[in-house]
Amino acid sequence: MSREELVAMTRNLIEHGAADTMEYADEVVRVPASSYTDPDLYEQERRNIFRRLPLMVAPSCELPEPGDYKAMDICGIPLLLTRQRDGSVAAFLNMCSHRGNPVASGSGNASRFTCGYHGWTFKNDGALLGVASAKDFGTVDKAALCLKRFPSYESAGLIWATLDLESKLPIADYLSGYDALLSAFGFEGWTLFSQRTIPGPNWKTAYDGYLDFYHLPVLHKDTFGADFYNRANYFFWGPHQRLSAPSKMATRVGSDIEEDLSLLSDDEIPNDALLSGVWTIFPHVSIASFYGGGQRGAMISQLFPGETVDESFTTQFYVMENQPETDEQVKSAHEQFDFLEVVVRDEDYSTGKRQHQALQSGMLKEVLFGKNERGGQVFHQWVDKLTHASDTELLDIFTPEQREAAE
Ligand code: FES
Ligand SMILES: [Fe+2]
Repeated sequence: MSREELVAMTRNLIEHGAADTMEYADEVVRVPASSYTDPDLYEQERRNIFRRLPLMVAPSCELPEPGDYKAMDICGIPLLLTRQRDGSVAAFLNMCSHRGNPVASGSGNASRFTCGYHGWTFKNDGALLGVASAKDFGTVDKAALCLKRFPSYESAGLIWATLDLESKLPIADYLSGYDALLSAFGFEGWTLFSQRTIPGPNWKTAYDGYLDFYHLPVLHKDTFGADFYNRANYFFWGPHQRLSAPSKMATRVGSDIEEDLSLLSDDEIPNDALLSGVWTIFPHVSIASFYGGGQRGAMISQLFPGETVDESFTTQFYVMENQPETDEQVKSAHEQFDFLEVVVRDEDYSTGKRQHQALQSGMLKEVLFGKNERGGQVFHQWVDKLTHASDTELLDIFTPEQREAAE
């Protein structure tokens, strides 16, 4: 039962907070600087991580209605997501079975897609509906020429797809039970308030910034403040991890009143405290709660490698429990969202770009992850392991029995 697991983590944070301690990693870990800058390794990561593992491609609220669709390009793979008539989501290779032209672009609502090249038509469940000038074209086996379907999975108000048509890795196994905890956010019923995409540095340089609180009072002193707590305990489910500050005190989202959580029974611990901190989904998503527009919101940051080793792109989805109603609330939600863009773009990513440029000099052989930066240590270990795993090893790593044995 996921609430029990959430409560157990919260108790861990309360106890460490009360004792003024944190959980340390065993050692300081060294990561070769070339792992951020080597173009060959980068290509391997694009292929073996992004084109082989399940990716969180959209929050469910981006495609709430039957007929909603979104086309994306992820590491060179054209993807089309559709919400079908029965309410389920499907993920297709966005390539016409005639000669490969993408059948959709952007996003919108449509029950069918007509290819813009010669006019073949597909239903949003992928079926080939019509061949233009069929009597001239010759015989076609329509059933064999539907859009090719990627494995996809919707859970906890989030949508995953694996950009490998042959993938045998069950997405639920890959998530290692993590989605059951993410479901405590209740994203199934939330709405998408706004979204934007911002450029960033190398994808791992960018992602590192979501995995430690160590930098918060330094890099973000002008935005979050210089007294922001810089410690975090880490919790892991396979490669997915949550980090949260050890503390017995908490304020409910949207309130200034501090509560001593150690005085509350398990049932009394508010959901906000159970979900505090940053929830990351390997290899490229980070989720954190915020408050703006008079209610609960969350920023879902979804990061993809760019064309070259030194660039990435992050789509920030600002999702809210309900759409803000008054002009005042809309303004306040925009302000919250804009603030987060400034923090990430002007502080995290601009630092990441400078850092990456310096690393590209090759003058520093290794970078360090301290005992207090366990999240980064574990992230780089997983990237390394999964980049170099064979397809068979990949399946073994995520079979539930293997996973349990490894934990
Ligand atoms: S490529 Fe789509 S109809 Fe020809
Ligand atoms: Fe940051």
